[in-house]
Amino acid sequence: MRRTLFHPRLAALVRDHLGQDVFRLEPDTVGVAGHEAADRILAARRATETERPTFKPLHGRSISRGEASSVMRTIGGDVREALKKPRPRPEDVDLSGVWPLRGHLFLRDLILGQDPYRLRILMSRNLELTPKLTWAVIAAGAALPWRAGGRGESLTAIAGLTAEAAGYHERRYAMGMYRRAAAPVCFTVSTLVANALWLGSPFDPGTPNRHILCETMRLLPPSWNILRNASPEYAALDERIGTGDDVLVLPLLSHRDPKLWQDPHAFRPERWEALDPDTAPGYLPFGHSSERCWGRHMVMPLAELLLDLVRGAGLAVSPEQTSAKVPLVGLLGVEDVQVTRARRAAA
Ligand code: HEM
Repeated sequence: MRRTLFHPRLAALVRDHLGQDVFRLEPDTVGVAGHEAADRILAARRATETERPTFKPLHGRSISRGEASSVMRTIGGDVREALKKPRPRPEDVDLSGVWPLRGHLFLRDLILGQDPYRLRILMSRNLELTPKLTWAVIAAGAALPWRAGGRGESLTAIAGLTAEAAGYHERRYAMGMYRRAAAPVCFTVSTLVANALWLGSPFDPGTPNRHILCETMRLLPPSWNILRNASPEYAALDERIGTGDDVLVLPLLSHRDPKLWQDPHAFRPERWEALDPDTAPGYLPFGHSSERCWGRHMVMPLAELLLDLVRGAGLAVSPEQTSAKVPLVGLLGVEDVQVTRARRAAA
């Protein structure tokens, strides 16, 4: 039996508010976990530029929707190219080790493998610690002269934006965009797959990857909260929300609401045989239907590839590991999961 140790603040959220609808979290913050209330809040208006997780302003410069969608097309093309390469066979890659780091490095090499060091280093997980450090690494890389030609042909398209940038300031901006667009691919997908391995590996051979991933995002939703800053629409929708209240929609809670899910805390991928992840009430791993995550079409095939490789190689969480921590960070996931070759059941 594996124990998932949520950070005390996350554990308290679940303990104190599971099954509730709209409730006060802080003097100026209201939590929302009821699925109808969450639906109304998220449909009321689009996320503003500072609420958007990926394309909030970059070092003070706003990113227009047009530019954001062009960058997403660029990284989407790079991911498609990576997926077109001959698939590694499970016996050719060793995905044992500590997850999510192991999955992160595999994805970085698969998608961005040929990019120059100064860009690939922007994928470092240590840079998560402080945006200032990230910006310092970007600024240092942008100051280096760009070697034209040479490796140019093998660059990813997202790296091409940096290569084409004219001058230091534009190059620094393009590098910031590289980090914004490429890092979530490695971070979120490796986190999602680490969560899946923790919750259910070794998996029954007949269980489809899709069901495993849907069920994983239910119990450990990487985007466990969706923030909306105070605005008049919300107070008009629900009298429990004041005009000055920020609103935190909490998939972490709606995904375990006993009114919506049978045996809500159990990992049961088979429940997705009869459920549609796009319409299941209260299920919001990729946000609201009015504007779902723009990256989800990259996330799912990459996560499935990783699961295929891990399952094909007979890997699973080490039987010696009985607990894993879930820290209080924006991207919800277990840390330091030891993945090893699963022992064969005795014949
Ligand atoms: C497991 C992986 C992921 C999950 C669970 C996830 C979840 C979400 C959620 C919940 C939203 C809605 C946010 C809101 O309404 O405020 C969202 C929006 C968005 N996501 Fe994702 N996401 C994932 C991966 C990615 C990746 C890899 C990318 C980009 C490469 C990406 C790009 C975006 C963008 C562009 C938006 C629209 C808002 C914005 O500009 O930030 N996502 N995502």
